[in-house]
Amino acid sequence: MKKAKTIYLCTECGASFPQWLGRCTECGEWNSVKEERLPDKRKKGLVVVGGNTAKAGPVPITELESGDEDRISSGLAEFDRVLGGGMVKGSAVLIGGEPGIGKSTLLLQVMGAIAARGESVLYVTGEESARQVRLRGERLGQLEDSLIIYPETSVEATLKVVSEMKPSVLVVDSVQTLYSEAVETAPGSVGQVREVASILIAGSRALDMPVFLVGHVTKDGFIAGPKMLEHMVDTVLYLEGESSHQFRVLRAAKNRYGSSMEIGVFEMAGSGLREVTNPSEVFLAERPVGASGSVVVPSLEGSRTILVEIQALVSHTPFGVPRRTVLGVDYNRVLLLAAVLEKRTGTDLSSSDIFLKVAGGMSLGEPAADLGVISAIVSNHTERAIDAKTVVFGEVGLAGEVRAVSNTASRVTEALRLGFSRCILPKDSLKECGGLKGIELIGVSMLDEAIDILFGE
Ligand code: TYD
Ligand code: MG
Repeated sequence: MKKAKTIYLCTECGASFPQWLGRCTECGEWNSVKEERLPDKRKKGLVVVGGNTAKAGPVPITELESGDEDRISSGLAEFDRVLGGGMVKGSAVLIGGEPGIGKSTLLLQVMGAIAARGESVLYVTGEESARQVRLRGERLGQLEDSLIIYPETSVEATLKVVSEMKPSVLVVDSVQTLYSEAVETAPGSVGQVREVASILIAGSRALDMPVFLVGHVTKDGFIAGPKMLEHMVDTVLYLEGESSHQFRVLRAAKNRYGSSMEIGVFEMAGSGLREVTNPSEVFLAERPVGASGSVVVPSLEGSRTILVEIQALVSHTPFGVPRRTVLGVDYNRVLLLAAVLEKRTGTDLSSSDIFLKVAGGMSLGEPAADLGVISAIVSNHTERAIDAKTVVFGEVGLAGEVRAVSNTASRVTEALRLGFSRCILPKDSLKECGGLKGIELIGVSMLDEAIDILFGE
């Protein structure tokens, strides 16, 4: 008998080696190379029949077809927006998120809505039994005849059903629980995930049908399995939030068919995920008015501005080395801003612990939040509350200068809409605000000016 061929694959970049290595020579990652058996032969009949398999040779770019992609609307505006305006036919979408965050709930709701319009949906569940899915469907009110639940873990069997049924949309929950007969290792291993995903993606392309793959995440919050999985699909979405908190944010980490900046906001309720169409109001609902250390920042999330609250707690450190704990903002950015604050305004934080978080489980990736971070720290450090009707934004440089940021007008407009009466912003951004009335705009060019205005007598 022929011995099965063994290769070694890097779980990070997918590079393959003939022998084991402690460190991947391609991407430099340590301990990421794992043993895998090569698929000896893909089973015959694995090609989806009746699809558009016509091969195109090299073609001048000018002769290629143009026009918008063919999209299917999900009926959930927040979900569609993150995808760039609905799901694109023939595209593969990977959805990651921590266990229990609501991936299966979200997909069942979306698929139920599509099935309610008469489109056929195949929902392959490798994790839960059909009965469990039925119970969830009852709870969500998504019992539709054309929503087909298929408990299966074999990708070959799945593909056979897909070829026969030709559903409008395919969901695989989760990609780590499926296995291919062509690969000998256990489900969830690098080789299996790679093979399963490539078979499903090829099927989706051939049938011009969107496929949604649910992916587990590792303890660092990244999708488990080869990093290559993320390269193979067209769109990578993450469902984030604290499972103890009701808000969920759907974020695109990669999107070949739209912006990767968009977010969708949902609220987990007794009957599933509810769209949050006014996120600013929701994120500010529980704001402690009059408490020091709290500040409101207009943050740009894709095409929308959302007002969020940043909170800081600055307390005397009981140890020699002060601690900095950060949730929702980049840790190093906070260290940098604290250093700017110390150096440029003479604030002494060397014996203070700093705890900083964005309320509501949101995360901010924008430099425009810099001025907010610093204001919150100063506010709690000096025990002086920031006026409840004031918002602040602006990037802060190492020299203590406040720099202009993009989309000033939409930030100010959102603050105005929510009843804020004063906005502290970069001086250079003022010119973008012509014609905005009903809100006092104060331009600042240096950090200490902003602090004087916020906390001055
Ligand atoms: P689930 O979709 O199973 O998460 P995942 O697939 O990401 O692992 O979500 C499970 C959680 O959601 C569970 O803790 C209960 C909660 N939930 C609700 O609060 N309301 C609901 O209507 C449903 C279906 C679930
Ligand atoms: Mg699930």
